[in-house]
This record gives sequence, C-alpha cells and structure tokens, in this order.
Amino acid sequence: MKIPQDKLVLVTSALPYVNGECHIGHLRTYVPADIYVRMLRKMGYKVIFISGSDTHGTPIVLSAEAEGVTPEVVVERYHEHFKRIFKALNVNFDYYGRTDSVSNHKRTEEIVENLIAGGYVYKKKTKQAYCNTCGRFLPDRYVEGRCPYCGAIARGDECDQGCGKHLEPGEIEEPRCKICGSAAVFKEQEHFFFKLSAFAEFLASYLDTLGGTLNARNYAKEWVKRELRDWCITRNLEWGVKFPGRDDLVVYVWVDAPIGYISFTEELLRERGEKGDAWARYWKDNEATIIHFIGTDIIYHHCIFWPAMLKGAGYSLPSAVIASGMVKINGKTFSKSRGNVVWAAEFLERFHPDTLRYYIVTQSSHTKELDFSWDSFFMRVNNELVAILGNLAYRVLTFAYKNFGAVPGGEIEEEVKAAIETARDDVIRAMEDYEFKKLVDAAMGLADFGNSYFQREEPWHLIKGGESDRRRCATIIKNALQIMKSVCILLEPVMPEKMAEVWYQLGMKTDIHETKLEELMSPIEEGQKLNKPKMLFQRLN
Ligand code: MSP
Ligand code: ZN
Repeated sequence: MKIPQDKLVLVTSALPYVNGECHIGHLRTYVPADIYVRMLRKMGYKVIFISGSDTHGTPIVLSAEAEGVTPEVVVERYHEHFKRIFKALNVNFDYYGRTDSVSNHKRTEEIVENLIAGGYVYKKKTKQAYCNTCGRFLPDRYVEGRCPYCGAIARGDECDQGCGKHLEPGEIEEPRCKICGSAAVFKEQEHFFFKLSAFAEFLASYLDTLGGTLNARNYAKEWVKRELRDWCITRNLEWGVKFPGRDDLVVYVWVDAPIGYISFTEELLRERGEKGDAWARYWKDNEATIIHFIGTDIIYHHCIFWPAMLKGAGYSLPSAVIASGMVKINGKTFSKSRGNVVWAAEFLERFHPDTLRYYIVTQSSHTKELDFSWDSFFMRVNNELVAILGNLAYRVLTFAYKNFGAVPGGEIEEEVKAAIETARDDVIRAMEDYEFKKLVDAAMGLADFGNSYFQREEPWHLIKGGESDRRRCATIIKNALQIMKSVCILLEPVMPEKMAEVWYQLGMKTDIHETKLEELMSPIEEGQKLNKPKMLFQRLN
C-alpha cells in the first residue's frame, strides 16, 4: 500500500495483556512496527505511533487470582515491565497508555452508548459456562474445552491452539473450570449482544479494500463468507469497564481494548497541547491513514469486530492491518506452562537489542511463522552482522582513519550511485509490501556491494603508489564511505543504536534518527573528520 504523502499516519501495535512478562513472540508485533514507523519518517511521513497495556479481561484476573492479589497489582507490575522492555529495545512509541485510564473508560462508554442508540445492541438470554463447585460463571479464559469448529483444545473465547477462531460464550464443547478442573455446566443468563450479523455486507466490501498483509484480509473474508454470529459483549466480572447502566456487568475486553487506540490518540494529543478535538482528525474525519500491527492470532478481532464497531458508532476505519506469523521455538508452539518460551528480558541481558531486532525481521518473512532457535540466532549474527556489515564498517573506516583521518575528496562513481539508488528503491518497495526481510536484504545487499567494491579496487596497493594512485585511492575511500553512510541510513530503522555508532565513526554531525532517505544521494562531506573506528559486533560462540 502506498500511503498518500499529505495524510496523517497513525500506526498502532496491539496492546499486550499485562498478565506476565514480555517474550520474543510479542516482539514480532512491536519490533517490525517500530521499524516501519522509523522508515516512514525517513520517507517524509508525519506519523504517530501508539500502543499501551491491555489491562482488562480474564488473562489479568486469572493471574491475579493465582497470585492472591488484586488485578491492579498485576497490571501495575507488568505495565512497568513492558515499558522497560520497549525502552531497552528502542521501540519508541509516541504514547504508551493503558486501557484502565479514565479517557478509555469514557470513550468506551461513549461508543457503546452510540451502538445502543444505533440499534446495534440487544439483550438476550444465553447459555454461559458455570462451575457448580466454585459456584460462579466462567467467562472466557476461566473455561477450557474443545473447539466446536476444529476439535482442538480451546479457551472459552478463542481456539488458541487450533483454527484461531473467536468463540462465543456457550460455544465451547466439554467445558471444564480452569480454577478447580471440574466439568462445567451451562446456565442461562441475560447478556448484551452486538448485531455483528448486520455488518456482513459492509465487512465484505470493506475487507476488499483493506490494505496490509493478505493473510489478515483473506482469513477475515473467509469468516464473513461463512457466517457472522452476533457477538456477546458483556461479562460477569468485577474488573473492567462497566456496561452502561449495569453495575453487575463489564464489557468484553475486546470491546474496550481496541478503543484504547482511540483514547491513546486523545491522550497523546492532549499531552502535546493540541485542541480538545484534535483526535477526531484521526478517528472521525478520515484525515488519517490508520495502520494496525498485530499477530495472526488476533486477526478476527481487528478485521471483523473492530471495523464493525467503528462503522456502527460512526468512526473512521483502519486502512491496513499488518499481521505477523506466530513465533515458535524449535518447531514447537510457545507455552509458558511447558517452559517453551524465550523471555525478552533474559535475551537482553545477554545480547545487544539491535541483534534481536535484526533477527526478528530477517529470520522469516513477516507473514510466515518464525521458528526461533539459538543456532539460527548465532548464525545470523556471525554470518551477516559480523561477516558482512561489521566487516565492511571496520575495514573501510580503519583504512580511512589510518590513511586519511578525514573524508577525502573525489567524485561519487556512477556504479556506486546506482547501487545506492537500487537499494533505496528496493527498501521503499519492501515497505509498500510489508516485507521487512526484503527491506533488510536490500540494505545488506548494498553492504555486500561495498565489500566487493573495496576488495576489487584494492586501495591498500594504491595508497603506496605515486600521486595519481593516491588520488584514485582517495576516490575509492570516499565512495566506500558514501556506501557506509547510505547503509547506515537504510539500516537505522532496524538497528538504531549500532547505526548511530557508525554514524559517529563517520564523523557525521547530524542526528541519524532524524536523517531522511533524501540524504542518501548527497555526498559525504570532504574534510569531515573521522572518529576512531570500533568493531560493531562480536562473534557469538
Ligand atoms: N491484548 C490483546 C491485544 C489487544 S489489541 C487491541 C493480546 N495481547 S497479547 O499479549 O496476547 O499479545 C500482544 C501481541 O503479541 C499481539 O499482537 C499478539 O498477536 C502477539 N503475540 C503474542 N504471542 C505471540 C507469538 N507466540 N508469536 C507471534 N505473535 C504473538 O492479544
Ligand atoms: Zn470450578
């Protein structure tokens, strides 16, 4: 998707449930989104980038119960944890909120009231899982059983191990209570429903025009074609946003969570001192391109529930949903309970954040599964970051620093210009296709070209020659430094800290994080003093 240059851009990353620590599976939503935003800014777009903690729903209540503390305690702890991890990884949100904020409560109430007023919400008696032993209703993750669509073991509200389908209360087969393990029964209760079925036609045509990755669009279209059942939007829980006029019910977490995207926009713009209704440019007046980054497991919520809610309440619609494939470990599904998980914090204690960012986008193409293994991580670091990128930077900069001390004079050669232009065009195309691996390949291809150029021209012979040889040597170094500068700009979105180091070694005075792609073609300044080079990456064994 090409984004119109004159439009505002809002990029969001799915809101993590703050019921436990961040693992590398999560990062596949946050790291590519951060890379995307940094590159959009390099391309000249005005972007705001938001996310926040999803503080409601049964994931949090269950964790709190297991620990014997209140949901607030759990939320507070992991909200801070996620913020720390994002900071350590240089995932730079303009705003990172939380869904239990006052404005999110207000915005949720307003939207639900809008939907009620529009005639999209009705009351109905329904069967809900109930545990006789515990004497309570079992919303969502309080119940486990079998998916009625594919037969896999499932949670109350989603078939997380099988087909990925959202499950309505009462749908799950052979339900069991998650607290005490006994078989649950179904009991009648009155709940509120959203008339999702009324949006079938709208969704079918909306999904045809939705940008983003095809996996998202196609998965959602399949479900719209099959059937859309009305959606139960209330739960028997204490913790959450109260359903208007009902003290005993909260709205389902998938109602107030995506509304966080709107309230965080409001909160950010208020923080920036903009007018009270500035958020409406994004969410009411269709002035912005709205882009959501998510994982495959929540396509249903973002491509079906969310646009229907927005449409029903009279809000602007998202332009693109970019859904990553899931992360596995050594071929197995992530599982906290089985210890099959790699924690982000552990990873960051041992390795540089940029190596993790690099790995996440290069190990597989964005929509495919990513099978994590330590071997593959070590290989990428050693064979690519050390052998290609680190090698180019160290060789070129050491030679230049020792023999010239500053950027020498000389013309940028045609073949070098062409290589840089090709890399830039490939990067832009990769952005339009959400192919972050190809984006890195294009930049690394330029580094590869730099290595062969340096090798082929043998400046170490020329430097020992006569006047004209030394002039030729200067030109080669000038060109090699130009390549280095360009690689730096193209890879800053992927490895912001490491590229800032090279930028400094190149003696650049500007801020690499603010540098635009236009700068790629402007020659590195003659006479600019170089700084002492340092190895960028260490080999891992
Ligand atoms: N709270 C919801 C999202 C609400 S958005 C309005 C949620 N939270 S989550 O913590 O489970 O996941 C946060 C993000 O991480 C989601 O984009 C999800 O798809 C992604 N992932 C979580 N585990 C993952 C893997 N194992 N692999 C890839 N992505 C995964 O869903
Ligand atoms: Zn029970």
